[in-house]
Amino acid sequence: MMMMTTTTLSKHGFQEETFTASMKTPETLASPIRIDGGKVVLQSQVVLAPMAGVTDIVFRGLVRKTAPQSLICTEMISSNGLVYSKKWDAHILKKNSEDNPIAYQLAAHQEEIITQAAITICEKHQPDTLDINMGCPVKKITGNFEGCALMKDLDLASRLIKAVSSNVNVPVSVKFRLGWDDNSKNYIDFGQMAQDAGAKLVTLHTRTRSQGYKPGVDWEAAGKLKQSVSIPVIANGDIITPADAKFVIDTFGVDGVMVGRGTQGEPWRIALIDHYLKTGELLPEPTLVQRLAYAWQHVAGMVAYKGEGQGVREMRGQLPWYVKGFSGAPAYRAKLTQVETVAEVDALFIEILEIANKS
Ligand SMILES: Cc1cc2nc3c(=O)[nH]c(=O)nc-3n(C[C@H](O)[C@H](O)[C@H](O)COP(=O)(O)O)c2cc1C
Repeated sequence: MMMMTTTTLSKHGFQEETFTASMKTPETLASPIRIDGGKVVLQSQVVLAPMAGVTDIVFRGLVRKTAPQSLICTEMISSNGLVYSKKWDAHILKKNSEDNPIAYQLAAHQEEIITQAAITICEKHQPDTLDINMGCPVKKITGNFEGCALMKDLDLASRLIKAVSSNVNVPVSVKFRLGWDDNSKNYIDFGQMAQDAGAKLVTLHTRTRSQGYKPGVDWEAAGKLKQSVSIPVIANGDIITPADAKFVIDTFGVDGVMVGRGTQGEPWRIALIDHYLKTGELLPEPTLVQRLAYAWQHVAGMVAYKGEGQGVREMRGQLPWYVKGFSGAPAYRAKLTQVETVAEVDALFIEILEIANKS
């Protein structure tokens, strides 16, 4: 059945090779991002955000097809979960030999636990950097005094950063927000604390915890943070288009940008932005057929990775993101949230391809 769709896609003019080739961006940066005195050197100013349930090994592989130079983050990994379960080969930790440069992101609230998780991950998976999540707003996480709750306790946050950075050989970074809420925006103090504790890069999600994901990012804050520390600063929050990225970098002087939701159902977006920043050339967005080809590879990868039942079920949340830009798309998006098997995905894709061919 999987073969059938590949054939169907070629019959409908699928030209994935041409598409990805046009987005390959071997250009290097005039000023690469040097982390920890050059221990890690990034030739791209665009970073893929950590996204739980999204940035697994399969999605990262799709992003890397066109953005091989970008730093890519894993999903958030619970240090407690790992250390107590001892599942050091869990799906969430898996990477392959092409999956670099990669940042493994840890959540934690105890020094001994995060240290053990960090050391073992470095031994078993060789990440390029380790990131500590100090920005997650979700109650289940903050209730455990992890994620953004750490912005309320700089002493504990500092001890966690010191514990990791003094026990591993890779650079440690920290991702955090403007603060807990509007009345406690402490991102400057927090960034300086992170640097003093040993962080070699910081990423600022330019919202407070209480904002969640609501509109109203403060990109200028990332520029203020950049002025206050000497390590690289990455700006994050609502950066979607190549123009957004260029504006944030040029206007606020940050070292790079991190893109999250803009890549959902669009794994090529990191490359589009990277290519524009390096060359000034705006590449065309992929056609519907090319989007479906990506979606198909995403499904095939998940099935190969997790088996058909789980792989297809996990794709229910992501498949609809690929399907837009034609009349009737909402109905297909709804149907894709119900799929159980590869055959059902295949049948729906064939119907969509027929529509694409007629339009
Ligand atoms: C589905 C989803 C999962 C996320 N998971 C994580 C995570 O595991 N770790 C983390 O630091 N941030 C996580 N985030 C936050 C993103 O990394 C990013 O900071 C946020 O989405 C803002 O960037 P954006 O506007 O480009 O999406 C998640 C966001 C989304 C939408």
